[in-house]
Amino acid sequence: MTATENITFNVISADLKKVSADALVIGIGKGTDGPVILDSPLSASAVNSLKASLTALGVTGAADELVRLPGLPDTGAKVLVLAGVGKLSGTEITEESLRRATGSAIRQLAGLAHVVLALPTTAVTQVSAIAEGAALGGYQYASLHTNPNGRKAPVQKVTIYSALAKDPALAAALLRASVVARAVNATRTLVNEPPSRLYPATFADAAKDLAKGLPVKVTVMDEKRLLKDGYGGIMGVGQGSSRPPRLVKVEYKADKAVADLALVGKGITFDSGGISIKPGAGMITMKCDMAGAAAVLNTVLAVAGLGLPVNVTAWLCIAENMPSGTAIRPSDVLTMFGGKTVEVLNTDAEGRLVMADGLVAASAEQPDVIIDVATLTGAQVMALGHRTAGVMGDDGVVAALKAAADRSGELIWPMPLPEELRPSLDSPVADMANIGERMGGMMTAAVFLQEFIGKDDDGETIPWAHLDIAGPAFNEGSPYGYTPKQGTGMAVRTLVAYVEDVVARSR
Ligand code: BES
Ligand code: MN
Ligand code: ZN
Repeated sequence: MTATENITFNVISADLKKVSADALVIGIGKGTDGPVILDSPLSASAVNSLKASLTALGVTGAADELVRLPGLPDTGAKVLVLAGVGKLSGTEITEESLRRATGSAIRQLAGLAHVVLALPTTAVTQVSAIAEGAALGGYQYASLHTNPNGRKAPVQKVTIYSALAKDPALAAALLRASVVARAVNATRTLVNEPPSRLYPATFADAAKDLAKGLPVKVTVMDEKRLLKDGYGGIMGVGQGSSRPPRLVKVEYKADKAVADLALVGKGITFDSGGISIKPGAGMITMKCDMAGAAAVLNTVLAVAGLGLPVNVTAWLCIAENMPSGTAIRPSDVLTMFGGKTVEVLNTDAEGRLVMADGLVAASAEQPDVIIDVATLTGAQVMALGHRTAGVMGDDGVVAALKAAADRSGELIWPMPLPEELRPSLDSPVADMANIGERMGGMMTAAVFLQEFIGKDDDGETIPWAHLDIAGPAFNEGSPYGYTPKQGTGMAVRTLVAYVEDVVARSR
């Protein structure tokens, strides 16, 4: 269960003639008056002749555009590649457009062994964005095809050309890029695994495997323990499946921690809908319903790998939602961890049931902040589409997550938590029903989760935010930028950046 990720990096500022490679990639921006050749180590005469032929070549500089030309005599590369970086906003090229352009190029150049990337860099963070984009774009799921012939091997070696090659801050920045990319790619692989291979017990095993060698403690609670301790949400959702549920606690304790962070992730290894079964088409992508748990797991591993001074505990709420003679029925009542009762009116609204248990368990340890991540609602996809996640919760946490997402290049957007939605979740027989107002259903689900956030010692509700990643966790369409088909690894980069910001603010 390992992603193909034996990509290696080095950064040079040497004469390009001396670097023999399969391809040299330069950037083309989409300027207001047509394509613009971005700064590169090519000679002025080479750039001039290239400029004269750009339009005839059909080059526009659009994102994901890739044009291959014979290598130039003043470089040691067999092929010159023109990679589109998209619209130029002023003269500065953003880190995210560098990440996407290099990710797209490395993805499309699969089959070549050694690629030199020569995009403009004036800051170390831009060099690391290029490295991150390349590591993300080079991702391939080690698929189950029996005939791998049609498949091109991912690029193995990437050389980044930059005048900052000798910058003392570079090594740490590149290490960060590779730790973060590894975490994102591992999240993708967990999501891509078919549910016949990745079910609650094997997901828990994978968490243990991935944590090996890191200062991270993984505790697996099996169905006997969950039953005994009263995890009625996770047990209820899992009771229709022949594969019993798990709650996995993943802990990283830092030296001199400046904060305690709890993460809770939805880990439905397959969501059939249960007795409220989904129509066939709606079920096709439902192996992705554990993407939140995979993201929070890999966030802890990345934070530990980087040695950041924040304690982070992830709670993976793992179950398979299946219909059967033992499954929960619409109108059954579950007693969640901590004692609240919930009437299940729709067994397909199962995410909020497993998350409720996880949020109560996380609250009991009184962390400074709780952030949960879940592929929670189809309404999220309706509201914000396939690429933008919704974020709801306390203003401070929401704002901090938005800022972290902006820096990391992930798209998230704040949505409200209207109080008036709460009565729609009232039940005549239990504390709450698991479904309420359908319109704005992403917010209804978040209002349900909010009820399970505990209080701190002073009686104040623990600061909390909820990320609904139903759309962006899984790419059903074609690959773009550094984003492959299927699992995307959504939320890992935002969460790591959030932790870094917590550290920076404490200094
Ligand atoms: N896992 C789904 C949400 C989902 C939909 C994730 C599409 C990714 C893509 C969730 O468990 C679900 O089925 N939600 C229901 C809730 C409804 C019954 C209130 C939904 O959104 O239809
Ligand atoms: Mn569901
Ligand atoms: Zn679900």
